[in-house]
Amino acid sequence: MGTERVKAHFEEEAKEFDEMILKIIPDYDRMIDVLISIIPFGKDRSFEMIDLGCGTGTVSKRISDSFPNIKITCVDIAENMLEMARIKVGNNAKYIPADLNSFVFPQKYDLIVSSLALHHLETDDDKMRLYEKIFSSLNKGGMFINADVVLGSDDGLHNVYLEKWKDFMAESYSRKEIEEKWMSNYYAEDRPTKLMTHLEMLKECGFPVIDVICKNYEFAVWCAKR
Ligand SMILES: C[S@@+](CC[C@H](N)C(=O)[O-])C[C@H]1O[C@@H](n2cnc3c(N)ncnc32)[C@H](O)[C@@H]1O
Repeated sequence: MGTERVKAHFEEEAKEFDEMILKIIPDYDRMIDVLISIIPFGKDRSFEMIDLGCGTGTVSKRISDSFPNIKITCVDIAENMLEMARIKVGNNAKYIPADLNSFVFPQKYDLIVSSLALHHLETDDDKMRLYEKIFSSLNKGGMFINADVVLGSDDGLHNVYLEKWKDFMAESYSRKEIEEKWMSNYYAEDRPTKLMTHLEMLKECGFPVIDVICKNYEFAVWCAKR
């Protein structure tokens, strides 16, 4: 039920998504810059990457601009988002409509990225199952990088994070709209997990190197090397 609601939401939002995300996510562009800055490969190298929950393809497009010889696969549950990604990233990439819960990686990759998508997986078990698939689908020397929404480590911290987030959205939306639309979507569709839990899950999968690159209240970028 949760996944169906998330899919329907993004099918409907695809055309407005790029404009809207800048008003919803504090420092969205910077977060993507950070993700790209730690890709451990030379600019001219040819390598395989997959973008999980690619949305309209912003992250894939930005990575392909920096790494012209990359081969990209984009996965998303919402076909309208994938259509927008195809326009942005182009026909050289592969596009796979799929639910990450049941997704079978078709091959191994050197780089696996995801941005603002994994918090839509309903439970920690769902996230763990995906992390295990990510671990087995990364080539040795490869890297997984995730930029996403997380929970604070306790309610006190999390409440501060939520207030900071609402203050950011208030630059573009009324307080009423924030509560009735964005917070209501958040409670219905988003299932963020504590950052510490993510890191423990990655360790349990067997990743030898795990790090947090940056954190801005409830938004964080972290990575795991195989
Ligand atoms: C907030 S958007 C982020 C899009 C993009 N990664 C970005 O940073 O701009 C979340 C995306 O994850 C996709 N998504 C959510 N749950 C998914 C699932 N279970 N399987 C595949 N894609 C999913 C949505 O359809 C949506 O395109």
